[in-house]
Amino acid sequence: MHIRPATVADVPCIRQLEEQASTAAHWTQEQYDSFFWPDAPARVVLVATDTPSQRPVLGFLVARCPPDEWEIENVVVEVAVRHQGLGSALVRELLNQAGMAGAAAVILEVRESNAFARQLYEKIGFVQEYRRKDYYSGPFEHAIVYRLSLQKCDKIP
Ligand SMILES: CC(C)(COP(=O)(O)OP(=O)(O)OC[C@H]1O[C@@H](n2cnc3c(N)ncnc32)[C@H](O)[C@@H]1OP(=O)(O)O)[C@@H](O)C(=O)NCCC(=O)NCCS
Repeated sequence: MHIRPATVADVPCIRQLEEQASTAAHWTQEQYDSFFWPDAPARVVLVATDTPSQRPVLGFLVARCPPDEWEIENVVVEVAVRHQGLGSALVRELLNQAGMAGAAAVILEVRESNAFARQLYEKIGFVQEYRRKDYYSGPFEHAIVYRLSLQKCDKIP
């Protein structure tokens, strides 16, 4: 498995994956394209592939990167290759980048019923902080907010 920074050319593949995943965050083509604008707020967009070649994209992760506290906004893995470690690998790579950049923590929120995603985050070491009541719509559901505190320059195993 190979993880690399996404380019704007990956957006159609990213959107295809996202559309298969009802529990993912959903954005428009324009929103994804805007992540790559030179003046866009700092973000990391990673894609996972099974060969060093550019395609196919099997998973992706999007995170906002303000200086102090990074936020994972979306993680999706292709249905056919789930539960093989890709989601964990994407999150770990993000944590390594956040640690190297000197971020103090990485946070995220997830639907309360999203058991697989919650297991992934908890196995990696995220700690549940609090619950945001009825945070999501369609359907309404509480969000669980997780945080992982980072030591400066931590290397995530
Ligand atoms: C959540 C998601 C990204 C996980 O990706 P993944 O590549 O399947 O995750 P991993 O293989 O790294 O699994 C990590 C852990 O999560 C749990 N898990 C994930 N998928 C699982 C499954 N199908 N069955 C049982 N446990 C599962 C396990 O605890 C697993 O650890 P293990 O391999 O030691 O058993 C993937 O299920 C997905 O794309 N879901 C739809 C989009 C989504 O909901 N994203 C999260 C938004 S916050």
